[in-house]
Amino acid sequence: MNIAIFYFSGTGNTRMVARKYCESFTANGNLCTLFELPLKRQIDITEFDLVGFGYPIHSFNAPQIVLQFAKTLPKRKIKKIETPKRAFIFKSSGEPVKMSRVSSLKLTDILKKRGLYVANEYQYVMPYNMIFRHTDHQAYVMWETAKKLIPLDCAEILKGTERREEKMPLGRFLAWVLRIEHGGAHIIGAGYKATDECIGCGMCANNCPADNIKMKDGKPNFGNKCLICARCSFNCPKDCIKIGLLNGWRVHGAYSFKDGDPNEKNGHENYCKKAYARYFRQAEERISAAQTGSKNNDN
Ligand SMILES: Cc1cc2nc3c(=O)[nH]c(=O)nc-3n(C[C@H](O)[C@H](O)[C@H](O)COP(=O)(O)O)c2cc1C
Repeated sequence: MNIAIFYFSGTGNTRMVARKYCESFTANGNLCTLFELPLKRQIDITEFDLVGFGYPIHSFNAPQIVLQFAKTLPKRKIKKIETPKRAFIFKSSGEPVKMSRVSSLKLTDILKKRGLYVANEYQYVMPYNMIFRHTDHQAYVMWETAKKLIPLDCAEILKGTERREEKMPLGRFLAWVLRIEHGGAHIIGAGYKATDECIGCGMCANNCPADNIKMKDGKPNFGNKCLICARCSFNCPKDCIKIGLLNGWRVHGAYSFKDGDPNEKNGHENYCKKAYARYFRQAEERISAAQTGSKNNDN
């Protein structure tokens, strides 16, 4: 199968997930190509048998850049006798609350109008790049879990077994309300500022996915196209970018994804405790069921 994956990643988590997807598909004898948004050139999706879309959840929604990209795909009405092209969605998010499942509703609608049928969707908990910093141990466990789940999810997609997340009632309305973030991002982002510690390295401007940062007199200047993906402030070598209204939630510095002290505290031990416990329990159940299944097949 020839598979394309289009994804956006602000600070690297979704990129890691996307790469693991590609690795798993390839290990199963498929051809898989990754396309990171924003795209550098136009891609014709008709040449692919299966198309994936990946994104980090932003305020219970898909980031605007992902929805805008999906809208650029040519519209197609599927004839009754035709089978629509299959698609899948994967998301990375800092917490596994059920409410965030609604994030794919809008994207699914847009893709449907483009003749793409979302048959599978998956969510992986990865460390927060906004709100608070997960501990090294938590980040490690999250990634180790995702690494075990992704090959199972890819196998399921390849097999044609559909899996969609059950959405909460009024989810569509909720996601629509929270899409205020898209407009809000432009306003909030225009209020970003570099402090005097800025060394004018230009890393933020060079890496901004929205090309929203311009260097002026050796300092970054923030325009009004911000996606609030956090890439600039997260990666700033001097941690000197203040992110306006969101500054209290700023998280800085890439996670190592190496294991740390399991007893380390970050002051958020009770945050969404039940949701995390449910996510890891269900993940563990799927992983051990798959291991048992493959042992039985070997015997
Ligand atoms: C503006 C913004 C909003 C976010 N909103 C949510 C959210 O609603 N739910 C959630 O679980 N994580 C949220 N996050 C955290 C990210 O989804 C999470 O850390 C993700 O793995 C980051 O992926 P990336 O490194 O590919 O950008 C948000 C992050 C940002 C920057």
